[in-house]
Amino acid sequence: EPVQQNPLVSMHKDAADFYHQILMTTRIGERGLSYAKERELDEDLLKHFDIGYAPGNGDVLYTFLKEKGYSEEQLIESGLFVQSQDGRLFDRFRDRLMFPMKDETGHPVAFSGRRISNNDKEPKYLNSPETSIFTKSKLLFHFSEAKKVARKEGHLILFEGHMDVVSAYKAGIKSGIASMGTSLTQDQVYMIRRITNNVVINYDGDAPGVSAAERAVGLFKQAGNFNLGIVVLPEKLDPDEYVKKYGPERYQQEIKGAISPTDFYLLRLKQKYNLNNEREKMAYLNDAMTEIASLASPVEQDIYLQRLGKESGVSTDALKASLSRARRRQR
Ligand code: CTP
Ligand code: MN
Ligand code: MN
Ligand code: MN
Ligand code: MN
Repeated sequence: EPVQQNPLVSMHKDAADFYHQILMTTRIGERGLSYAKERELDEDLLKHFDIGYAPGNGDVLYTFLKEKGYSEEQLIESGLFVQSQDGRLFDRFRDRLMFPMKDETGHPVAFSGRRISNNDKEPKYLNSPETSIFTKSKLLFHFSEAKKVARKEGHLILFEGHMDVVSAYKAGIKSGIASMGTSLTQDQVYMIRRITNNVVINYDGDAPGVSAAERAVGLFKQAGNFNLGIVVLPEKLDPDEYVKKYGPERYQQEIKGAISPTDFYLLRLKQKYNLNNEREKMAYLNDAMTEIASLASPVEQDIYLQRLGKESGVSTDALKASLSRARRRQR
């Protein structure tokens, strides 16, 4: 145990416990609890993720932390408050379901609050600003817990949002982490690589999610030495919605069915062309061959060639001939 902990870190622990207690045991917390029920979050989940509720009044947390002895200056530095014109402090998070964001050692250093009301003038998620203890680009939601699971199971699963991490956890996928909306960063990729080389990317099935997955694949490839799987969920669903709609077993099958980066690339490529048009089909085949030619392993190349042959109706001999041309082009 450290002799003296950073007061901002202990403040965040106090705040997380406070919000959690409000959610689990108080009258004002009932509003948060009924939202949690709507989202099918049971007690175990609320406890595992230390989820809490920030009441609608403007000064509950302020009063609590002030009584705990934190100075005005520390409260300002924490990012948990907003300052009015005349310098008074008010709770930043109001009427929100609170998700503590923890550092690698499991200490809460920031929060993300989910709006409960349906007033969409308020942002859906509100996050802590960056502080001396919180750098957004270097934090992954649930990393401190997921890395323990990953050491046993041998892989991490990357999601877009914390609700996805929570729902996947409920469905038995316990090594989930999230970059939380902001696109994945190189720092986060290196954090992941210190734990495992095996990563399954399961972003939302909508267009922004699929593009973000493409970008993430690029980052992992750049860092090198990763073994990637990509899950593209149907009907534009996100993992949370998928689990709700199809249940945990089918969701686990989706994770098992994660496709390779090459298959993901080819799938995306195919969507860009109208394959009923001969010219576009040719262009598709050319692009696909260029990708296949870039693969290091001849066995892998052969597998993708055969598949491409089957789906396009072009003989594998013809494909092989143009593959060697594509290879020459790449040199
Ligand atoms: N996000 C954010 N601010 C927003 C919208 C999104 O910070 N206004 C971040 C959150 O971390 C969120 C992630 O981006 O979890 C993914 O966004 P989205 O898919 O829109 O949210 P969901 O996770 O699906 O949230 P919910 O299921 O609660 O609607
Ligand atoms: Mn806990
Ligand atoms: Mn999304
Ligand atoms: Mn989503
Ligand atoms: Mn969602």
